[in-house]
Amino acid sequence: MAMNTAFLGLLQLLLLLLPPSLRDYLWAATSHHGVGQKLQVYHPIIMSAGISCPVLEARLTDAYTPSLPHCGELKGKGWFPLWNSKQDLVDHDYISCFEEQMSLVFDPVTNDYKNRPGVETRVPDFGSAYGFSYKDDSCPFCCNIKLRDELETLGYRDGDTLFGAPYDIRHAPPSPGHPSKVSSDYFARLKDLVQNASAKNENRPVIFVGHSFGGKLILDFVNSTPLAWRKQFIKHLVLLSPTPSTGFMEVVTNLASGPSCIHFDAAPHLALRTMWWSFASSLLSLPSQAVFAHEPLIVTKHRNYSAYDYQHFLAAVGFSMEGMLPSTKLALPTNLIIEAPMVPTTYLSGVGIQTIKQVVFWDGNFDIYPESVFGDGDGVVNWNSVLVFVNELKRQHSSENILFKFIKIPNVTHSEIAIQDNSLKIIMAEILEANS
Ligand SMILES: *[C@@H]1O[C@H](CO)[C@@H](O)[C@H](O)[C@H]1NC(C)=O
Ligand SMILES: *[C@@H]1O[C@H](CO)[C@@H](O)[C@H](O)[C@H]1NC(C)=O
Ligand SMILES: *[C@@H]1O[C@H](CO)[C@@H](O)[C@H](O)[C@H]1NC(C)=O
Repeated sequence: MAMNTAFLGLLQLLLLLLPPSLRDYLWAATSHHGVGQKLQVYHPIIMSAGISCPVLEARLTDAYTPSLPHCGELKGKGWFPLWNSKQDLVDHDYISCFEEQMSLVFDPVTNDYKNRPGVETRVPDFGSAYGFSYKDDSCPFCCNIKLRDELETLGYRDGDTLFGAPYDIRHAPPSPGHPSKVSSDYFARLKDLVQNASAKNENRPVIFVGHSFGGKLILDFVNSTPLAWRKQFIKHLVLLSPTPSTGFMEVVTNLASGPSCIHFDAAPHLALRTMWWSFASSLLSLPSQAVFAHEPLIVTKHRNYSAYDYQHFLAAVGFSMEGMLPSTKLALPTNLIIEAPMVPTTYLSGVGIQTIKQVVFWDGNFDIYPESVFGDGDGVVNWNSVLVFVNELKRQHSSENILFKFIKIPNVTHSEIAIQDNSLKIIMAEILEANS
């Protein structure tokens, strides 16, 4: 006992010598678990970040017919970064080419989405935690960069103990009746990555850390694997504000006004709306009937639209008229199924931030910015939706006695959860706990 106290005193002293943020969460972690905790790297970690973070490279072949002559300049010149730097696109007057070359087309033969003819794409750096980056310098710590730095300070190393799973932001995970070759290939590579990461680390199972859309994809991936495989290879999921399948309003505002995650100050605000509509991912996580019921989500002078009226809303916005997508393809959330991952999970979310819960296009003109009505949430995801989603995951986990820990962090936004000092500390303490 006396020795323990002495050791505790020494540890406290040693912790004082560390940089303040590291000291605080190490101290938080040790005081939870007593002094015996190993602080060395233990389980490999695979990271994934939000939808603005993965990079996309493209290659243009002879089959590509540009709608503007200069969009064809890179034809036959090999791979180039299509979505990596906003400044590059502006400098090369490439935004409209970007829109064209990023857009997907729906192929009724395969019932799946594909690139436009003559455009080939790939996501670079699969496997690396460095495969994510913010696309301008407005947010140097976005895309889990700060979290990655903290893990490296602890001793994690990219390619050995630390990995990343960047994805093609345009595609949606496969679901019954909606195949996706790109997403199925991604899941297969991710399964390989998990097994490789584990094999490299004495067969220890991996910890996933996913933020926002990256967290959603990890959840969907885990749910696509056999239970026995999950139990063998996955130690823990750390989900940071994952976008819940129960839905959130930003999905609606992105469809109405163009994507907030891909946006250029130099371009008109609707410039990328048609491109966004062509993405399979743009229809994921629409506010669900199960949570939002008949609440008017979109208000106009003449009629309102609730979670029951997306077909009408999308037609009014002009989406269906683009002819890019047959109405049968609309994966509308009428029969929402929430599947829990059934492996130990920590789910962290901010709360207490003004979050859009309704938009008003009073004159029915969807081409102008709407007025917003706010409710609770993390600034992006509506709190009522988080609660329904989390409670269902918790229920499924507790029926099998599998850990599910929900941590709400007041006053931290969706994008700041892995940046702000206080919440980063909480996240790091959870990762250390999962590591023990
Ligand atoms: C996994 O390891 C195998 C064998 O070394 C390698 O061929 C494969 O590319 C690796 N896959 C991933 C996703 O790391
Ligand atoms: C639309 O919803 C608003 C806000 O809930 C309500 O005041 C209004 O009466 C509704 N309008 C119509 C046309 O139903
Ligand atoms: C959250 O922010 C509000 C407004 O700034 C403040 O009144 C409240 O005390 C904060 N809550 C916490 C738990 O930090």
